[in-house]
Formats: sequence, C-alpha cells, structure tokens
Amino acid sequence: MDDKLQVRPMVDAKNGQVTPEIYTDEAIYQLELERVFGRSWLFLAHESLIPKAGDFFTTFMGEDPVVVVRQKDGSVEAYLNQCRHRGMRLCHADSGNTKAFTCAYHGWAFGLDGGLTSVPLEEEAYRNKLDKSRWGLTRVPRITLYKGLVFGNWDANAPALEDYMGDMAWYLDGFLDRREGGTEVVGGIHKWTIECNWKLAAEQFCSDQYHAPYTHASAVQVLQASPANKADGKPLGEGQTPRPVWADALGGVQFSGNGHGSAFFFTEKPDANVWVDGEVSSYFRDTYPEAEQRLGKVRALRLAGHNTLFPTLSWLNGTQTLRIWHPKGPNKIEVWAFCICDRDAPVEVKDALIRSHARAFGPAGFLEQDDSENWVEVQKVLRGYKARQAEFCIQMGMGFEERRQDGIPGLTNYTFAETAARGFYQHWANMMSAENWSEINDLSAADQQEGV
Ligand code: FES
Ligand code: FE
Repeated sequence: MDDKLQVRPMVDAKNGQVTPEIYTDEAIYQLELERVFGRSWLFLAHESLIPKAGDFFTTFMGEDPVVVVRQKDGSVEAYLNQCRHRGMRLCHADSGNTKAFTCAYHGWAFGLDGGLTSVPLEEEAYRNKLDKSRWGLTRVPRITLYKGLVFGNWDANAPALEDYMGDMAWYLDGFLDRREGGTEVVGGIHKWTIECNWKLAAEQFCSDQYHAPYTHASAVQVLQASPANKADGKPLGEGQTPRPVWADALGGVQFSGNGHGSAFFFTEKPDANVWVDGEVSSYFRDTYPEAEQRLGKVRALRLAGHNTLFPTLSWLNGTQTLRIWHPKGPNKIEVWAFCICDRDAPVEVKDALIRSHARAFGPAGFLEQDDSENWVEVQKVLRGYKARQAEFCIQMGMGFEERRQDGIPGLTNYTFAETAARGFYQHWANMMSAENWSEINDLSAADQQEGV
C-alpha cells in the first residue's frame, strides 16, 4: 500500500479540510496502531500510582496492554502484558504490588525486571533445556519520567521526550509544576467507554474552544442559577453571576507543534474557574504567590483552557482532569480520567477537588456529558455512506492568524480558531505516511516552509 498516496490527501491542512474516513476506516485504524501508537510518546502512569518497589499499574499503548513496574532500584520499566509462552494476558489486576508475575495459563513466572524466572515442570517438560534468558517479557524500550508522569515509546529511534514535547512542555508545566512538592493522583481513576473515534476527543481538547459557549451553554446557565456556586470562595449574592471564561476569548491563544495543541483563555484571577468548589478556589488563591514565582503570571493564573499532547493525553487546568483516550477500534475509545492535585495540598482541598473533578469531568460530569454526546453523534452519522464522502471544515482562523510577540508559545492570539486542529491532523498524516522519524521530521519541516 502506498501510504503517502492514500493517507496524506485525507488531510489537507493547507486548505483546511479532512476526509471523514479517517474516523471510521478499519485499515486506517490498523495503520494508526503501527505508525502513530507504535512511534509516539504515550502516557503510561503517574509516579504516585507506583511509589514502592514491586508496585505495578496496567494500562495500554494503543491497543497493546502493558504493565508498568517500579523496580528495586527505584527506576520504572514497562512490559507488554503478554506471556511469552503462548500469549496469555500476564497481569489481570489494574494495579498492586508483587514480587513476580505468574501466568494463569501454565504458570510461567517473570521477575520485576521482566526476566523469565520459573517454568513449571522445567525438568520433565523441557529436560532443563529451555533457554529462559530468551523468553523474557517484551520490554518497552524507551521510558522517560517527566514531572511525575511516566511516558513510554516503542520506537527506539524516536526523538527524546523533551524534544518531542517541544513548547508543549511549557503548557504541561503549568499543570504539573505549581508547587515544590509536585503532584499526585487523588480519588482513583474513572474509566468509561465512548462510541467515537479517538481523534474526535483528542483534537477537541487540542484545539476546539469554539464549542464551549454553545455545547456547554446549559451547564453555564445552571451554574449561574445555583445558590451553591462559590466561584470566588463564597456563595454568589443575588444578581451576581460568574463570568464565563470565554468572555475573554480575544485574549486567548492557540498553539500547536508536533501534533500537540493548546487552546486557552487568559484570566486575571487566581481562582477564576467556575467549575470547582470554593475550597479549591481558595487554595489556588492562597498558593498563587508560589505558583507565580515558579511559573510566571500567565501560567500561574491557570490558563483556563484545554490541551492535548499528541496523540491521546489531554488535560484541563482548574478541574485538574488528566485523561487518556485509549483507542478501542475506529469507533470506540476507553477514557481513563485522573484527578491531579498538588501533593502538598491539605486533605480537605483534595477532597473538594475530587468532588469538583467528578462533578464536571467524571463519567457523569455535566461538562463531560455535553462533550461526549457530540462525539457519539458525529460517529453515528458516519455510519452512513454519503456521510463519509464530503470533507469536514477546519478552516477557522486561516488567513488571519497572528503570532504572539511576548514569548508565550502560541501560533495565534485568538482562541476561536482551528490552528491547533490543523497542526494535529497534519502531524497525524505525516506519521501515517512516513517510514521513520527522520521522514516524519522532514515532512514537518516541509509543511512549515509551506506555512501549514
Ligand atoms: Fe503463559 Fe503458557 S501462556 S504459561
Ligand atoms: Fe467541552
């Protein structure tokens, strides 16, 4: 298959359009598993989930199940969660602590370092001739820790994580690095499925603030009407209404690079997030001086907006949701949502944040439901034949994007744009077309020269 011919024309970022087939086609999906998920840096776990030697956490890289394991020397390794004997899923628990992983099928056992340590009936069945050193677990060759997050990459030739993130690290730091003690996961992990293609979710978090005033209009009205609203640390008085963040849309930014994207609004108040409980707002306000010292004013003010590190890691400041969109076929994702809190926050703030996070962005969250309904309906419509013939429009902002001059990484000053979406899809097409990272980088450089 000539991928360059078949995939790149499906994304025409220069003219602002994509072909709907990229959300539905099984062959494209299989190529994504190989070329996107097999070569991108993928979020595996937060370090707080595996603090001690022998702690493990099971997750996915694309559709490949992996187990992430804290080693005896404190380092982190990850392995394909597949027994080397006959392919059985090795570890069935979501997380835990162990000295070894023993397969439930025939009993092969593997150590924390992935090595095959024990084989039942080794003498009788193999006459002691099995070379156990050949049959260790398949190791994820690249693991990098970044401010509490564990990332893995199957491609030994991929760029270093920090080079891959580029300026996106500036935005991620605003989420992870407010306080000296770093962050931790609080309140467990919510997991649920949505019947949509992974790119619909990842691209929206990367780029689409345009939906917010419309899709979330009823949620905002409810919040405004609720006497329980404590947006500024105390209940709103009669006639007072919280100011929706998109009122400042003209002060926003869209950023994209390597397929990553951020779309956000500037805010002027440290507690400017109407979705969280008063205790959380107060905490943000009280810790603002430390955050400003570490991050500078713009990021310390919490960049109200959303972000995607290509391909599937997204986060929102304020409600502190970090989520991964695990692909489960072209028409389905499994969302894993983590609530990320400063490690040094008081326990009552952590409790309030867990409530705020679940209320807004848990599986039944009032904002989550708004978003996922859109993606599900788009995907349902795409079951039709005609619905897959006409391109979708990603032209917003084309021709009047204005680069920032103040050092903030950004491609346009205006948040209602599809700048980051165009970058997301162009990078996707480049990964799908290229044989290796060197070719991916060449295609990106050529795109930049052409102004894509
Ligand atoms: Fe694991 Fe046989 S498949 S021991
Ligand atoms: Fe939304």
